[in-house]
Amino acid sequence: MTPHQHLRILLERRVPGYSLEADFYHAQSILDIELKAVFEREWVLAGSSSEIPESGDYLTTMIGQTGIIVVHTEDGTLRAFQNSCRHRGSVICLESKGHANKLVCPYHQWTYALDGELLHAAEMPKNFDRDQYSLIAVNIELMAGMIYVCLANDPPDFSGFRREVEPYIAPHQPARCKVAFETSEIENANWKLVVENNRECYHCAGSHPELTYSLTAFAMPDDPRADTFFSELMPRKAKDWDKLGLPHVAVPGGQEFRCIRLPFINDALSMTLDGSLACRKLLGDFEDPDLGSVRMFRVPNNWNHFSSDYVLHATVNPISPDKTLLTTKWLVHEDAVEGWDYDVEHLTAVWKATNRQDATLAQNNHKGTRAAGYRTGPYAESEFMLVDFTNWYAAKMASYLTQQETSQIHLTSVSS
Ligand code: FES
Ligand SMILES: [Fe+2]
Repeated sequence: MTPHQHLRILLERRVPGYSLEADFYHAQSILDIELKAVFEREWVLAGSSSEIPESGDYLTTMIGQTGIIVVHTEDGTLRAFQNSCRHRGSVICLESKGHANKLVCPYHQWTYALDGELLHAAEMPKNFDRDQYSLIAVNIELMAGMIYVCLANDPPDFSGFRREVEPYIAPHQPARCKVAFETSEIENANWKLVVENNRECYHCAGSHPELTYSLTAFAMPDDPRADTFFSELMPRKAKDWDKLGLPHVAVPGGQEFRCIRLPFINDALSMTLDGSLACRKLLGDFEDPDLGSVRMFRVPNNWNHFSSDYVLHATVNPISPDKTLLTTKWLVHEDAVEGWDYDVEHLTAVWKATNRQDATLAQNNHKGTRAAGYRTGPYAESEFMLVDFTNWYAAKMASYLTQQETSQIHLTSVSS
């Protein structure tokens, strides 16, 4: 049986509303297809424009196995390229961030302009045409300072996401931030289990004492499980935010993205251990610190929180079926002074603890799905975002298979 046939069988017998079969979490052949069907076709968060404010600044990231360079060019625009030399394919930029007037491959020093054009290649034959060897460009979209990139030749529409989400994000002005701290951690779990874990707060009460001091486990303003406290708090805060012109109602993101502003509990102003502000200098032009947080995610692998004082970006990238890289960045106002406006420990304590706890949960989940007796299990009502995620994922994989089969039929009929 080919990997495509195997996947087709798994997709056909999948029961919506249930967790995925073990092979989805453990088979290398499934991950190989996911890299093409999902990661090479979707918009992925690469970073924040505030990380590369000057001409020549660059950052690097990974989409699956493909390295990406995002560079701030001389004309002020941001461009993205595959981090792979056109000579023999070496990685060009080795650091996660840097500054360069030109991009020079460390192997044989082929040298590229910031717009990707090949400027110099020593010892090549006379008829060598440099114009044919520019860096491979990657689609890029900038939304309120958030840099999304997509490897597809024909990327999915970005405009609906931008239209719905930007009004929520823009007031926090992520472009006028700086990264105060970042972490990269490898979790011993399949990337989908890491994402699934992020999409529900069913586990929060049992696992996240630090996070649940400020964050409500209720995902919707009209959550039927909501207690009296939340039912009274939500409409009161909604009124305040209406006065400030800050949108808060959940956007119609379907299965692809979610964006909503929800209040903190316990009179918290920020996601910190005691609910106090993580940074005295508020983001953007905010004067009111009590803004709850905008929670935003988009498929396949990015989630974010925006409070009045800091921004948290998180992305996951699969390394292997059982290893996933989680990158987390904490951003504060660009003028905030460390030690005066913010303390890194206070800023990061909640999400560092939460990430640690989530890594253990995802690892346990991953291990448990290896059991001979593992059977797919039903999602709870509060896990509706997992239903969305797995449905979206299955549809994406199925449509890729269909496209491949169609092009195979086409190829066969052309050659016969
Ligand atoms: S691989 Fe880059 S210069 Fe040779
Ligand atoms: Fe969690």
